[in-house]
Amino acid sequence: MLFDTHAHMDDRAFDEDRAELLSSLPGQGLALVLNPGCSLASSRNVDKLTKEYDYIYGAVGSHPDVADEVDEAVLEEYRVLCKQNPKIKAIGEIGLDYHYEDIPRDIQQKAFRLQMQLAKELDMPVIVHERDAHEDGLRIIDEFPEVKGVFHCYSGSLEMAKELVKRGWYIGFTGVLTFKNARKAVEVAANIPLDRLVLETDCPYMSPEPFRGKRNDPGKLYRMAEKLAEIRGLTVEEIHTITTENGKRLYRI
Ligand code: NI
Repeated sequence: MLFDTHAHMDDRAFDEDRAELLSSLPGQGLALVLNPGCSLASSRNVDKLTKEYDYIYGAVGSHPDVADEVDEAVLEEYRVLCKQNPKIKAIGEIGLDYHYEDIPRDIQQKAFRLQMQLAKELDMPVIVHERDAHEDGLRIIDEFPEVKGVFHCYSGSLEMAKELVKRGWYIGFTGVLTFKNARKAVEVAANIPLDRLVLETDCPYMSPEPFRGKRNDPGKLYRMAEKLAEIRGLTVEEIHTITTENGKRLYRI
């Protein structure tokens, strides 16, 4: 059984067939799905989804793309959602994205710090989105040594992954692992301790081969497990067990 540790089932891409898809996933080998929030509006929808489906857990937070929405009122709503709903297991996704940089870096950093502080206060793990901001990302998490979590859709170097593992963090791998040009992700997945790896679809984005370019969903996570089994020289069943246990430990489920 698999655990999709990062799936955006609240995304608009699923508006047409969400209920149908979500009812079918347990039959497709999915034991658990964690749906992160991307914004305040998205986090409210995640809260609802976790109440409708037993196997769906959630996180609340504002993505760096909407870092400018983060203020005291938003943080207070996240605090309340975390306290009232025991199926909200993390703060995320939060972090830094210097690739598109729609929002100025100083505003992204401020929102990241405020949400790391909230995770510290609530003693919860975090889901970090970090793209082209490796140095600042590491610097900010080092300001909060009590807070651990996952760097999702990992795009950094093996060196940085080792730094994260040393600090007690997890590394999340998406369908990128199955791409022909995925040398870097494969190198990281081959060389970090097995108990620090989690699998995710990041759906509706990042479809694995042979579905690249199509809408992704948790039913395609088995492709990442197959690829990881090949990389680590283990059976697919072993990878299912190990990565599901890792995800449960990460999110304290
Ligand atoms: Ni995401």
